[in-house]
Amino acid sequence: MRINYFIFLLLAIAWSKIEGVEELSGCPAAPVFLYGGKKMYRITVRPKIKKTDVSKDLYGLFFEDINRAGDGGLYAELLRNRAFDEGVLPEGCAYDKVNKLITSPTGWVSSFDCYEKEGIAGWEAVDGACMNLTDKNTLHKNRKRALEVSFSGGSIRNAGFQGVFVEQGKSYRFFMFAKADREVEVTVALTSKTGEIYTSFTFAVCGDYTKYECELECAATDVDARLSLSSQADEQITFGFTSLFPKDTYQGRENGLRNSLVERLLQLHPAFLRFPGGCIVEGFSKETAFRFKDTIGPVWERKPHWLLWSYMTTNGLGYHEYLQFCEDAGIDAMYVFNCGMTCQGRNPDYFEDALIEEFYEDAVQAILYATAPANTEWGAKRAANGHPEPFTVLKYLEIGNENWGPEYQKRYRKFYERLKQEFPQFVYISTDHTEHAGLPTEMVDEHFYSDPVFFAVNETMYDTLDRNGVDIYCGEYAATIGCKEGILHAALGEAAFLCGIERNQDKVKMTSYAPLFQNVAYKAWEPDMILFNNHEDVVIPSYHMLSMFASNRGDYVCEHTVETEYQKQITDHARDAVISETVSGENARVKFWDNGLSGEDQNHYDWILENGKSKILHYNGWSCESICPEILCTGAIKRENTVEIRTEADCFAVSLNGEVLHQKELALIPDITAVCTVDESSGELITKVVNFSEKEIAVKMSIEADMQEEATVTILTGDSYLAKNTFAEKEKVKPYLVRVAAASEYELAVKPRSVYVVRQKIK
Ligand code: AHR
Repeated sequence: MRINYFIFLLLAIAWSKIEGVEELSGCPAAPVFLYGGKKMYRITVRPKIKKTDVSKDLYGLFFEDINRAGDGGLYAELLRNRAFDEGVLPEGCAYDKVNKLITSPTGWVSSFDCYEKEGIAGWEAVDGACMNLTDKNTLHKNRKRALEVSFSGGSIRNAGFQGVFVEQGKSYRFFMFAKADREVEVTVALTSKTGEIYTSFTFAVCGDYTKYECELECAATDVDARLSLSSQADEQITFGFTSLFPKDTYQGRENGLRNSLVERLLQLHPAFLRFPGGCIVEGFSKETAFRFKDTIGPVWERKPHWLLWSYMTTNGLGYHEYLQFCEDAGIDAMYVFNCGMTCQGRNPDYFEDALIEEFYEDAVQAILYATAPANTEWGAKRAANGHPEPFTVLKYLEIGNENWGPEYQKRYRKFYERLKQEFPQFVYISTDHTEHAGLPTEMVDEHFYSDPVFFAVNETMYDTLDRNGVDIYCGEYAATIGCKEGILHAALGEAAFLCGIERNQDKVKMTSYAPLFQNVAYKAWEPDMILFNNHEDVVIPSYHMLSMFASNRGDYVCEHTVETEYQKQITDHARDAVISETVSGENARVKFWDNGLSGEDQNHYDWILENGKSKILHYNGWSCESICPEILCTGAIKRENTVEIRTEADCFAVSLNGEVLHQKELALIPDITAVCTVDESSGELITKVVNFSEKEIAVKMSIEADMQEEATVTILTGDSYLAKNTFAEKEKVKPYLVRVAAASEYELAVKPRSVYVVRQKIK
């Protein structure tokens, strides 16, 4: 699967970290703290001792148009294929009709299931109407198609995104560009699937393309309604563009956002929004790379954009709308732009200098569009689009997305040095550790997709960061492997990881979970934090965990220590074995700890001998980590070699011809992870505790301050690691609040598989 290979590459970005896991020379027992003869869990807190200020920007949002998150989702447009160009092949791509695939100029293959010659996505002609697409006389040079219709008493209907959702008593804004040689009547209506009319309006259409608009008040609620256009006329009528929006959008904006989904975003208490991607910034060809200029101005004049998540966006949700949303929500904006290459995980195209320069200009113009006064070229364009004052929200600029290596470094230098000089006021973000290549680096965006255990064991990942080094933005992370359905286990692993990040927020200053949204009818990536259909939404446990974390920040991290028991990663002792094999020559591979499954469920380790080097790879679902340093072993290799792999519980030792090459104990999984902050205004200690284990744990709280006798505790838990929310059971896993007796010393009973946020007043 391509996506597997892709995530493999993503994880490669994190390899350097994973390899940093300490090498153990033997296999010692897990640390266990004994207290009065019992195994002990204790959190010792010194609220008065400040370790570091909290980073106000720690929790943000990353929005990418993936899983049809934009049109028909956050972007409240109700019509699918409103501009009739959804089925146009992306430039330079070849179509394979049998398999419904396209191949990019560099040979990247992806799905394409809406080819225009096989039907017009979103639209149907009924009762004798005939429709066909044309590339002649379209509305605008950026409109590749128009729709010619002969109605003869029939109609054409749009089914939206799995049905148009309409509500009784609510108003909808409709507009269309249409033309006809002589005056004809065209009726727009909202109807049921079977044609029952809920509301309608009739236009007299005549002459060249004209914008016709109306407001429709709906007489019924229907989750599977249709937008219908009909006419009694026999002659051809041509449509250049159509659009239907609920009047009720976030802050009532035309071309606005779906209220219920914005509400979900705001409940995450975000400090910033990273946009527009993600891989869609890079594209899989130069034509599919994101260009901000295509996303501003009147929506009917914007170029559409084939997203590498295999669908078209109309770009109605564009650069201006992202900035407007940040302004409306009172949050900072982080703009990610293409730096002159396509996605490196998808047969990359490294652009020539002239095209890199074009993308550089694009970045400059985007900055000017946002920030220049209205009496300048780009400021005037912004003013013409309804925002005369400069946007003040733009704070961060990210140079590329998930780009790395020498090709990236070359481009990063070009962009960074010139932009920093011209626009020193922004924080610039690199997508690789460019500082290791001697390049000026302010902040590095690190991405992690793995399984819950990876996140839980890596709660210490940032403890050893160089305090004088670059700042970190953990711009994309999620427990994905084994967690496609958005289960509690994922939230627990991520919560443990975030405790580690909170402890280190002097250097890890920002985070954002990815991806945010999924239209459940168009999945390209799972899990996603907010699932929606055309009228409802439901959130996964990670969402609740993040909302809890982001709404309980405090002002500073105080001194604290956590004592816990640990679990081993591999508990199945049946796997203990001695594998002895004879291999010949310089290249060999031996599998061990193999769970016998494949694809997303696989889990095994490979010892690999390749070109005189020995290494160990861990395959876990889609991901692959190199977990021991590579060993150069040319001297040890013979024609016939004996390799021996001894495994015992969580340890393995690999030897070649009697010489031990690798010896490793897997990192232990902490049962309890915690972080403590102090909220100065409310005078409260905030303790976040994650119990990753399946047992109830009594945590001894030992607070070196005079504490109130009661604490409020928000708890997120579920009856199994697999607990999840669905449209049928939306609130199966959700936080609830309890009060508990507390003191300076008290025992906190922490439920199995749970996240706790404890707030307790300091007297
Ligand atoms: O979040 C989904 C994808 O993961 C993003 O587009 C990309 O940046 C990463 O590979």
